[in-house]
Amino acid sequence: MHWIVCPDQKSQAQACAAIIAAQVLQKPTSVLGFATGSSPLRTYAELIELKKRGVVSFSQVRTFNLDEYVGLPCDHPQSYCKFMWDNLFAGMDMGKDQARLPNGMAADLEAECCDYERAIEDAGGIDLQLLGIGHDGHIAFNEPGTEFSRFTHIETLNELTIEANQRFFAKREDVPKHALSMGVGSIMRARRILMTAYGKDKAKIIREAFLGPVTPQLSASILQFHSDCTIVLDRDAASALA
Ligand code: GLP
Repeated sequence: MHWIVCPDQKSQAQACAAIIAAQVLQKPTSVLGFATGSSPLRTYAELIELKKRGVVSFSQVRTFNLDEYVGLPCDHPQSYCKFMWDNLFAGMDMGKDQARLPNGMAADLEAECCDYERAIEDAGGIDLQLLGIGHDGHIAFNEPGTEFSRFTHIETLNELTIEANQRFFAKREDVPKHALSMGVGSIMRARRILMTAYGKDKAKIIREAFLGPVTPQLSASILQFHSDCTIVLDRDAASALA
């Protein structure tokens, strides 16, 4: 694993954006895996900045997102689809057909999971997958106890995740209980992984996930076995590592 510890959140986001931009400069047709949540937000703002300055173009990339809530259409304010268009895609030079998220509105969710996995394969696989980490160590929505071999699947969200995501919804009852999520198997197939986290509240889980034992109870821990994983942290998130 390669570690990059940045003095603050701004430089952390710039480091992540630079790694993604370099990937696209080297291979303009890159297949990029994106994540939602607060961790990648500043990275997306930096990427839009790089695009405005003419440093990077997304005109030929294809993107796949890690996950989507079941039951929220793309125009729902809390759908991950809307999050991505609001925070990244709309600011890049790319069209709707270049970006795909699992469709949490599909009539047959099982079939959607298979289609999604096949679409990633047909695109040639993910060149670079960006990841955040949940407070319980989950990546995408792979909750504690997940099987490492799983591909895209329907996940039942646990109480901690529902609680963490409640801040975005008016009431707890509004938080979806299920999501479609790439599995650990899908994520580990990506050729490169870029994991990012900031803030003191992530320090303990970063230590447990990357310096502790590899266990399905903490799905991010499997990244210790990925052959090309870069972890970009701010000083606070790295503070329990020493
Ligand atoms: C959600 C997402 C994850 C994300 C996690 C952490 O559960 N499904 O992909 O990494 O939240 O979010 P945040 O970056 O806001 O802490």
